[in-house]
Amino acid sequence: MSPTATLASRSQDRALDRIRQLVQDQTGIMLKENKGSLVKARIAKRMQKLGLIEYDKYLCLILDDTSGRELQYLVDAVSTNTTSFYRESEHFKFIRSVVNDWMKKGKRSFRFWSAASSTGEEPYTLAIELREVFGQTNIDTKILATDINQEVLIAAQKGIYSEDNVLPVPKPLRNKYFSRQSAGNRSQYAVVNDLKKMILFRQFNLITPPYPIQPDLDMIICRNVMIYFDHKLRRMLAAEFERLIRPGGYLLIGHAESLTGIVKNMKCVKPSIYVKE
Ligand SMILES: C[S@@+](CC[C@H](N)C(=O)[O-])C[C@H]1O[C@@H](n2cnc3c(N)ncnc32)[C@H](O)[C@@H]1O
Repeated sequence: MSPTATLASRSQDRALDRIRQLVQDQTGIMLKENKGSLVKARIAKRMQKLGLIEYDKYLCLILDDTSGRELQYLVDAVSTNTTSFYRESEHFKFIRSVVNDWMKKGKRSFRFWSAASSTGEEPYTLAIELREVFGQTNIDTKILATDINQEVLIAAQKGIYSEDNVLPVPKPLRNKYFSRQSAGNRSQYAVVNDLKKMILFRQFNLITPPYPIQPDLDMIICRNVMIYFDHKLRRMLAAEFERLIRPGGYLLIGHAESLTGIVKNMKCVKPSIYVKE
């Protein structure tokens, strides 16, 4: 490589590092070196849309955009949004059983928070399970579902899923809580209004404490997002969750995550499930 080409390539590497850092500062998501090619591909897709091929040009565009819109598009482009209905299904068995117990004790008002709800499969699964427990009983239930990514929130609010997406939903529940529509030569499944009404979708960045959320929550589900955060940030999230959950309420995290040594007033009842003491 000629000296000029080497200099140009170094300047591109530096610009890419700055872009990664901007994402981390904004979201807490650490875009690690070992995920380099995936991250590069996602950033490249966004740059392609803008007709850009050099990182330093893209960096300037982000920094010049004082509205913050391009940074939001970048965050949307690089965040991992993998999710599914009934993901880590043991959690939903647990939820069904504890809500049943609470109902038996006369509880008639419930507050839940799905704290990184992606395209909505997690809060809708929760809503299905709650409806199944509540039956015809009139219950005051609210599920807050938040995510930093605007695109996934729009999809979640639409509540329309492909045939493959709804496969993990047991067939009787699929028939009950989705209406099947034809879309060309395929079918798609729209969540029924009864479920949609239970959920409030909002954009929210988990790295900005104190969270402006009404305390005394019965349960927070924050799964598969803390893995992208460093220890300090995980500690901060855990402290906020502890503050917001009522005594006897639960925090559910992803199966691959742990809060050992991080939570103070919560006890682990099962791997990935904590109760506030
Ligand atoms: C892998 S998905 C997990 C979805 C769902 N909780 C599950 O387990 O199936 C991670 C989600 O966290 C969101 N996220 C990442 N950083 C965030 C932040 N700082 N604040 C809020 N949400 C964030 C991403 O946009 C993404 O939708």
